[in-house]
Amino acid sequence: MRVLVVGNGGREHALAWKIASSPLVEKVYCAPGNAGTSACAENVAIAATDITALADFAAVNKVDLTVVGPEVPLMAGIVDLFEGRGLRVFGPSRDPARIEGSKAFAKDVMHKSNIPTAEFWVCDSPATAMERLAEYYTVRGSAAGVVIKADGLAAGKGVTVCDTRADAELAIESIMVQRVFGDAGNQVVIEERLTGPEASIMVITDGHTIIPLLPAQDHKRLLDNDEGPNTGGMGAYSPVPGLTAADIASIIDSIVRPAIDTIRELGIPYRGALYAGIMLTATGPRCIEFNCRFGDPETQAVLPMLKSDLVPLLIATLDGNLANAAVEWHAGAAVSIVAASGGYPAGFKRGMPIEGLVEASEVPHCMVFHGGTRVSGNDVVTDGGRVLAVTARGTDYATARTVAYSAMSMINFQDIHYRTDIAKGVDW
Ligand code: AMP
Ligand code: GLY
Repeated sequence: MRVLVVGNGGREHALAWKIASSPLVEKVYCAPGNAGTSACAENVAIAATDITALADFAAVNKVDLTVVGPEVPLMAGIVDLFEGRGLRVFGPSRDPARIEGSKAFAKDVMHKSNIPTAEFWVCDSPATAMERLAEYYTVRGSAAGVVIKADGLAAGKGVTVCDTRADAELAIESIMVQRVFGDAGNQVVIEERLTGPEASIMVITDGHTIIPLLPAQDHKRLLDNDEGPNTGGMGAYSPVPGLTAADIASIIDSIVRPAIDTIRELGIPYRGALYAGIMLTATGPRCIEFNCRFGDPETQAVLPMLKSDLVPLLIATLDGNLANAAVEWHAGAAVSIVAASGGYPAGFKRGMPIEGLVEASEVPHCMVFHGGTRVSGNDVVTDGGRVLAVTARGTDYATARTVAYSAMSMINFQDIHYRTDIAKGVDW
C-alpha cells in the first residue's frame, strides 16, 4: 500500500513512523512533513491546507490511504473532497469535524446527548458576554473562577482559565473587541471552571464501533508545576495510572458514545479519530472538549505503546468493520517530553541548528519525533514553536521518564525549553 500522511508536526511524525512499520505498507509520503518524517517517509512539498493539491497528488501517485493529522484540513473538507474523487482517507468529514471547529456546536452535541460537561453560555456580542459574566458572578460569588473560550479555532490558544472577573473581562475584550483570534472571536463561550486532573481519551471509530486507545495525560502549561500559559502541550504520558479499565468504559459510555451517536443521528456520521478532553472532577468525569483528530503530543506517547499494526485499524474504520478489529498494547508506560523554542507560545526564533539528534535517537527504547524542524544544508534546524518530542517506553513510568530525560539532555539548540517535570511523581 501507498500511504500519505498530511501534516508536519510531532503527531504526524509518530503516525508516519508507525505506518511505515506496517508490513502492508510499501511507501509512505508525508505532506509537507519535517526533517524527522524524511527518515521514514518521502516528504512532499504541499501544505496541509492545500487540499486540492493533496487530492491531485494522491490521485497521480496512486495513494491507497491518506491519513489526516491536523484539524484545519479536516474542517476545510479534505475528507469530503477526497471521497468525492474516490480517494480513501482517514478522518471525519467537514460537518462532524465541527465538533472541534466550533465550541458552540460541541456544546450543543454535549447538551443533546446529556454529556456531563461544564455549565456554559454562548454569547455573540461583547455586551451580552459582559452581562452574562455579571450574572455568573452574582450567582457564584466574587471568588469563583471562570473559563472564557473563543468559539472558533485559535491554534489551542483560544482558552483562558480565569481566576478573577477582571481576567475574564480582559479575555472577552481581547477575543471579541481586539479580535486577537480574528473570526474565531465572533462568539465566546463562558464556562464554569472545573477542577481536577485531566486525561485525554482518544478513540478510533467507524461511526458505530469505538476502539479506545490507551489514555494519556497531557501537560498543557508551559512551565514546571503547571505554571505559565496554556500551550498546545509540553509533554504527555500513557497510560494514566488511577484511570482503570472500568473508568475508561464509563467515560466511553457517558461521553464518547453519546457524542458519536448524536452526530450520526444528525445525519453526519463520524469516522476517524475522536479525542475527548476529560476532567476527572470530584463528581465524576466531565467533558472539557472534543477534537476531531489525534492529540499532539498524546500521539507521540500513545503510538509507541501500540503493539498492533495501526494500518488495519485505519482501513477497518473506512470499511465500517472495526467491530472485528483487535488491538494489543505493550505493557509498561511511555513518557514524551516536548522541547520548544524559547518564547513559545508567543514569538520565537526559527532556524536554530539542533545538535544531538542522532545520539538521542540511538538511546534504546527511545524515539525522537520531530515537530517544527527542517533541513537546512547539512543541519537540522528549528522551524516552529514545539520543535520535537522525545519519547521513551519503559516497564514503568520512572524508567521511561529517566530514559526520556537522559535522551533529551543530549539534544540542544539555542533557547531550548522543556519542562523537567513530565510524568513526575507518577507511578502505578
Ligand atoms: P480546551 O482547548 O477547551 O481543551 O481548553 C484548554 C485547556 O483549558 C484544558 O485542557 C483545560 O486545562 C482548560 N480548561 C478548559 N475548559 C475548562 C473548564 N471548564 N474548567 C477548567 N479548565 C478548563
Ligand atoms: N494536546 C492537546 C491537543 O492535541 O489538542
